[in-house]
Amino acid sequence: MNLDQPRGRGVARILIDEERLQARIREMAAELDAHYGKDEPLLVGVLNGAVTFMTDLMRAMSIHVVIDFMAVSSYGASTKSSGVVRILKDLGEEIEGRRLLVVEDIVDSGLTLQYLLDVLGRRNPKDIRVVALLKKVKAEAASVQVDQVGFTIPDEFVVGYGLDYAGRYRNLPYVAVLDPATLNETEP
Ligand code: IMP
Repeated sequence: MNLDQPRGRGVARILIDEERLQARIREMAAELDAHYGKDEPLLVGVLNGAVTFMTDLMRAMSIHVVIDFMAVSSYGASTKSSGVVRILKDLGEEIEGRRLLVVEDIVDSGLTLQYLLDVLGRRNPKDIRVVALLKKVKAEAASVQVDQVGFTIPDEFVVGYGLDYAGRYRNLPYVAVLDPATLNETEP
């Protein structure tokens, strides 16, 4: 893995490489195929971070799926959650009576996911399942509904495979930890 490319600059170490990511995603997709069977879930991707995971996950699934996206406010250029969540882009699909699969990139404090689940739950879907690629080891993350987790990771700020720091690093094909010097350079 070449960390000297511009997109890899500032990365301290790779936490989960491409091969492990793809192998785990294939396992998760197989579990989802078995879970939904003939039903056609509506995959709700949480923009922007879940895009990479969502596109790989859905291509690894062999059942029919429908997809839609929601965008909620994120951390901006900070690495800490502000605790304030709001909808920036809502779903185009009606969800009443449908089976929803919320696809999240990472559960940190769990605030974003809890907010989304409250909003979606009020629209009376048949059921809601949550799949998150990453979940941090911390008490807060454990208090929110997550049915399937790709990897449980240490409580560190990570980038890559959809996850950003100040808008960058989403196009890394692996999940990595940033060099603390990189965080200090641009932290407001
Ligand atoms: P939460 O509300 O604290 O669970 O954070 C959820 C959102 O914050 C995620 O969907 C990510 O977009 C972002 N986020 C949380 N932790 C990280 C991280 O370590 N790196 C990059 N983004 C993160």
